[in-house]
Amino acid sequence: MGRVLVTGAAGFIGSHLVDALLTDGQRVTGVDCFADYYDRRIKEQNIAAATGHANFRLVEADLNTVDLASLLQDVDLIYHLAGQPGVRGSWGGQFEVYTRNNILATQRLLEAAMNAGHVPLVYASSSSAYGNLPTMPLQEEMTPAPVSPYGVTKLAAEHLCRLYSAVHGLPTISLRLFTVYGPRQRPDMAFQRFLTAVLENREIAIYGDGCQTRDFTFVADVVQAFQLAGAACRAGQHEGGLFNIAGGTRASVNQILEQIAMTTDRQPLKRCFPAQPGDVRDTWANTRWTAASLGFSAQVTLADGLEHQWRHVNRQV
Ligand code: NAD
Ligand code: UGA
Repeated sequence: MGRVLVTGAAGFIGSHLVDALLTDGQRVTGVDCFADYYDRRIKEQNIAAATGHANFRLVEADLNTVDLASLLQDVDLIYHLAGQPGVRGSWGGQFEVYTRNNILATQRLLEAAMNAGHVPLVYASSSSAYGNLPTMPLQEEMTPAPVSPYGVTKLAAEHLCRLYSAVHGLPTISLRLFTVYGPRQRPDMAFQRFLTAVLENREIAIYGDGCQTRDFTFVADVVQAFQLAGAACRAGQHEGGLFNIAGGTRASVNQILEQIAMTTDRQPLKRCFPAQPGDVRDTWANTRWTAASLGFSAQVTLADGLEHQWRHVNRQV
């Protein structure tokens, strides 16, 4: 078998995937440009264990400029997680960054994958592609209507994956990930901000009334989903396919704070701010198609996952 390429390898989810692939005995190349969205030292810590592994090679490069033909030599599967995440910051002048890292980089990678002998590609798409649809739970065949510029770029890249499969026969699978949490979570995301604030006895910023809900997904479950999708993609199954990946533990932000109080044995200090443009009201996934097609089922409960992340946050200080 050839090498597996993981883009966004030093990021939150990408670094967990790299660790799991190495544990699985695979040879892995990671590429990451260490984008300045958050502190590069966090990303260096994310990838530190893998960096010492004999089967791992890290390339610090931007997908928009790197020589992809060289990078893809000997690669027989691509997990494409590199991108500019975060829904709330995607308005205004920042949209250029989202366009470059989510749409242009994906198109360039798809072209290269095709030219390198049709290397299969699994794409990290997002629940934010859906937007605020009138019917729940969310199903893959629903017509998406994103409510953030970020969601627009993720949906565009997802369409590109489908298109390269349909027109050029490139095996691709897109996974719509629902709000991922766990150790190494990005510092801009809710759980990381909430747990750090509790630890440092600071106020937690709540956007809106706190009744908005998310189908939160533990990162190890997401890694399992990528591995199942990778195997299917390699086998030429579900070409151009789209799957929800969710934890099945839908909760409101207020319920999360109650769970955090139980996990940390401390009472969070709250401060309310206006609802943020770009935030969807609710997410809740139907994962029946994913279970039937890929054999995916989330394993980690919210209480257990939060406990893992709380322990990690404590180790970070
Ligand atoms: P992250 O920011 O921690 O990881 C993304 C990595 O990609 C970063 O390390 C960044 O430096 C790298 N990167 C960005 N642009 C690049 C480029 N042009 N070339 C090379 N590297 C580049 O984010 P994450 O939370 O781990 O998200 C990973 C992927 O999953 C993203 O595509 C994101 O849109 C998607 N996603 C995340 C979530 C979530 O809840 N975290 C949910 C849905 C989808
Ligand atoms: C997350 C990721 O950040 C996106 O990259 C990803 O694409 C998206 O999930 C997805 O599922 O597709 P989000 O759901 O906004 O986006 O995740 P969090 O940042 O963890 O926020 C969860 C909820 O907490 C949101 O309703 C948000 O408004 C709220 N929140 C967040 C606060 O009330 N306060 C904060 O300080 C941060």
